[in-house]
Amino acid sequence: MAVKKSNLKTKIQQKPDLRVAEVPKKPLTKPYNDIDLNNWKDYSHVLTDTLWEFQSRDKSNGHSYDYHGNYIPQIAQQLYERFTKKGDIVLDMFFGSGTSGIEAVNMGRRCIGVELKQELVDYVSNKFEPKTLVTDVNIICGDSASSDIGVKIQDRLAVMGADKAQFLVLHPPYDDIIKFSDKKEDLSNCATTDEFYDLFEEVARNGYEQLENGRFAALIIGDKYAKGEYYPLSFGCMERMNRAGFVTKAIIVKNIEGNEKAKGKQANLWRYRALYGGFYIFKHEYIMVFQKPLKNKAKSLH
Ligand SMILES: C[S@@+](CC[C@H](N)C(=O)[O-])C[C@H]1O[C@@H](n2cnc3c(N)ncnc32)[C@H](O)[C@@H]1O
Repeated sequence: MAVKKSNLKTKIQQKPDLRVAEVPKKPLTKPYNDIDLNNWKDYSHVLTDTLWEFQSRDKSNGHSYDYHGNYIPQIAQQLYERFTKKGDIVLDMFFGSGTSGIEAVNMGRRCIGVELKQELVDYVSNKFEPKTLVTDVNIICGDSASSDIGVKIQDRLAVMGADKAQFLVLHPPYDDIIKFSDKKEDLSNCATTDEFYDLFEEVARNGYEQLENGRFAALIIGDKYAKGEYYPLSFGCMERMNRAGFVTKAIIVKNIEGNEKAKGKQANLWRYRALYGGFYIFKHEYIMVFQKPLKNKAKSLH
């Protein structure tokens, strides 16, 4: 017997719904960041290539160009997103004007900074809310290459309820290119570049001790010319990082963004000098990324 079309439709509608309600996916993250790899296409702002070109310095959210030699905040933004989780502690052994700390607060991370110059520590402390200065940002006035800096960092970590930092930032003086102070402990006052490398290695070792196993470190540095010779400070320091036990993960080339003073007459003068002296004008610096292995690999000093 032929079934009427209208009856058939009713029968289908009465069938129980066997579809299972969609369960939200558990986030797929690495132990060292909050990037949900299920949605990796949503992170197009996170750089994954080795050439970083920024048109200008970010001067918003507490950042300013108030210190000759401070790095641009976009570097911290990129590194924190890749290598830290919310609430993690960033340890910066050359705190300067506090870029690492400002960006840590902006991004819900915390920070311990070590800086040699007391007047700079006092100035930078005023950039943070007083209550933030205990819970979220701790600034130590001290020598990052000294053997007692570890104890001072440990004290601050304890106040913050931690025993290790989760990310290390090293933005040392580029040897003697900028003199930061007259202090003999200042890495910009070394008598020779070899002495600079030795002191830098001490800092790298001190930082290594305070970093959680398996976590990352960034070295921000440029090279220099002196007396007609090129000094690859970046690769020299990279080697010292390796000696301290870090494994190299990436070498990123970053443009040095437009400096108004370098335009016009000055730029022409440098071009003339370059043509005359057989060298090239620096337009880049490096951001080198390292990882502390899960098991200690530090080579002994001797
Ligand atoms: C390149 S600057 C860092 C700038 C910083 N990243 C910023 O964005 O403001 C290097 C800093 O290291 C400091 N410094 C040099 N030798 C040091 C040492 N032995 N211990 C701690 N800080 C040191 C200098 O005073 C200077 O402020």
